[in-house]
Amino acid sequence: MLTGRRVRLRALEPADSEPLWRWYHDPEVGRWMDGTPPISLAQNIEKGQNRPRNTFEQMVLGIEALDDGKLIGYVALGDTDFRHGEAELQSIAIGDRDRWGGGYATDALRVICRYAFEEMGLHRLTLWVVADNAAAVRAYTKVGFVEEGRKRESFRARGKRHDFLMMGLLSSELR
Ligand SMILES: CC(C)(COP(=O)(O)OP(=O)(O)OC[C@H]1O[C@@H](n2cnc3c(N)ncnc32)[C@H](O)[C@@H]1OP(=O)(O)O)[C@@H](O)C(=O)NCCC(=O)NCCS
Repeated sequence: MLTGRRVRLRALEPADSEPLWRWYHDPEVGRWMDGTPPISLAQNIEKGQNRPRNTFEQMVLGIEALDDGKLIGYVALGDTDFRHGEAELQSIAIGDRDRWGGGYATDALRVICRYAFEEMGLHRLTLWVVADNAAAVRAYTKVGFVEEGRKRESFRARGKRHDFLMMGLLSSELR
């Protein structure tokens, strides 16, 4: 269920803490995401050891490349509301920049969205993305997300203001 054409999604292990820590501190990976002050590798290892177990309400999954079995990124789904059948796709990152443009994020998005609709029975997914994050907007659009709203100039990065887009995907629209 959690395997696509190029990636497999799986729970994060304590041993994943080192690559996750590197990606958190890569300014290019974090460019369009909310940053946090630096933390030490030791602090991130501790976080990895105490990570809460995944639930349908809140999950973070590692993205593993099927070609060589390496962890290349992560995706998070949360704020699930079963009454209304919706959840938020909270983040996706391919932390290993050498893999950008390889179709890994698009495949990971298809896998997590299919899981949300078919396994969890949800009806729609929502996400927020900076409008100028062209690669992310393209990947979301490719799997079927459409723009549903725009918060103007609400994201500040490197001294400039950018719009935030709200995008949504209905279960019948996944491509
Ligand atoms: C956004 C991100 C996840 C995309 O991952 P990826 O594996 O490189 O994406 P894909 O290879 O599946 O490519 C998606 C599409 O975007 C296109 N694309 C890639 N970089 C692009 C860019 N700079 N400008 C425009 N389109 C771009 C690709 O060509 C592809 O479209 P195509 O198939 O029509 O050619 C990755 O760039 C990343 O991790 N960025 C940092 C974290 C981030 O910003 N996450 C999103 C937070 S909301």
